[in-house]
Amino acid sequence: MTPCEARPPLTSPWRLGSLELDNRLVLAPLAGIGKWFVRLQAKRYGAGLVVSEMVSSHGLVRGNERTLREFLRIHPDEHPVSIQLFGDDPAVMREAAAIVQTAGADAIDINMGCPVRKVCRAGAGAALLEDPDRAVALARAAVEGSGLPVTCKLRSGLVPGDRSGVALAHRLAAEAGVAGIGFHPRHASQQHKGRPDYALAARLCEELSVPVVLSGGLHDDERVLAAWQEVGAEAVMLARGALGNPWLFARLLGRYEGEPSPAEVFDELERVIAGAVELMGVERADHYLRKFYPWYAERLRPYFPKSLRTRLCEAATVADARAVIEELRQRAAALRAAA
Ligand SMILES: Cc1cc2nc3c(=O)[nH]c(=O)nc-3n(C[C@H](O)[C@H](O)[C@H](O)COP(=O)(O)O)c2cc1C
Repeated sequence: MTPCEARPPLTSPWRLGSLELDNRLVLAPLAGIGKWFVRLQAKRYGAGLVVSEMVSSHGLVRGNERTLREFLRIHPDEHPVSIQLFGDDPAVMREAAAIVQTAGADAIDINMGCPVRKVCRAGAGAALLEDPDRAVALARAAVEGSGLPVTCKLRSGLVPGDRSGVALAHRLAAEAGVAGIGFHPRHASQQHKGRPDYALAARLCEELSVPVVLSGGLHDDERVLAAWQEVGAEAVMLARGALGNPWLFARLLGRYEGEPSPAEVFDELERVIAGAVELMGVERADHYLRKFYPWYAERLRPYFPKSLRTRLCEAATVADARAVIEELRQRAAALRAAA
């Protein structure tokens, strides 16, 4: 794409290998978050493709019961869904990819960008930038093992100035048969901080023969639309911007205007709570859901003072959260009645 070429609307369809996707918005892979009910939420608000949290290829192949039951749980209404795998061994990746295909995934993404030490020390995630032959073999194994469209999600490099991610993207497209590249133009040592290098991403989009999905810094409507114009990617991935904020998808697709009402926020949070309880039981959900409350409390900022929002953020259990939600629902109703 040349910079002056008109960009297609975010609502237009595109292809990822054999998959036809309805629009240009993708829910990014989010470790510890992107479970079936979070993906289904993004889908209900319009996401054209949803990607799972990262799943260990070794865990799948070992047949770890929780890995299979929780990580491969796909809701019938969330398709098309891509399951993200991480790993270091092509033979294991091939087998894991076949398991993912059998579980009903529409695509597979391979994590080649995670900077977390535990993942990198095992030769997976961003460590693959230092071992491009292995990275290509992993992607090829996933393609052959699953028969599904396979994408790889890459960083620009490991440290400032390093462009090993760009070089690897070219090799994956040319040698591994990947259907697309997810590109997060921050180097791994930046983790998730700092401005992504959109100029670098734009060059990659121009050069690469397969679609590039842009990730990084896409936190609100303005930034998504600006990056969409600037970079020339085939699609964009919403990550932190979508946490507790599925309305971002709907607004960008022209299906929603403004900010959600308290009732809409509570309804969504209650769905998330119900999904987590169903998937992992109340005791684990008590702990797991604590990170979700501040994201939803943020959406309540226009309606409730900090003291009340803090009570939601500090809910220790599912029961506490439900009680706070009920109380805030009643307060909102009383305010509406008085208005
Ligand atoms: C809590 C959290 C978990 C993440 N988990 C994953 C993951 O499992 N796999 C992956 O490829 N990227 C993961 N990422 C990176 C995101 O997909 C995305 O590339 C990154 O957040 C940059 O986008 P943003 O600036 O719009 O948030 C994660 C990011 C965050 C904040």
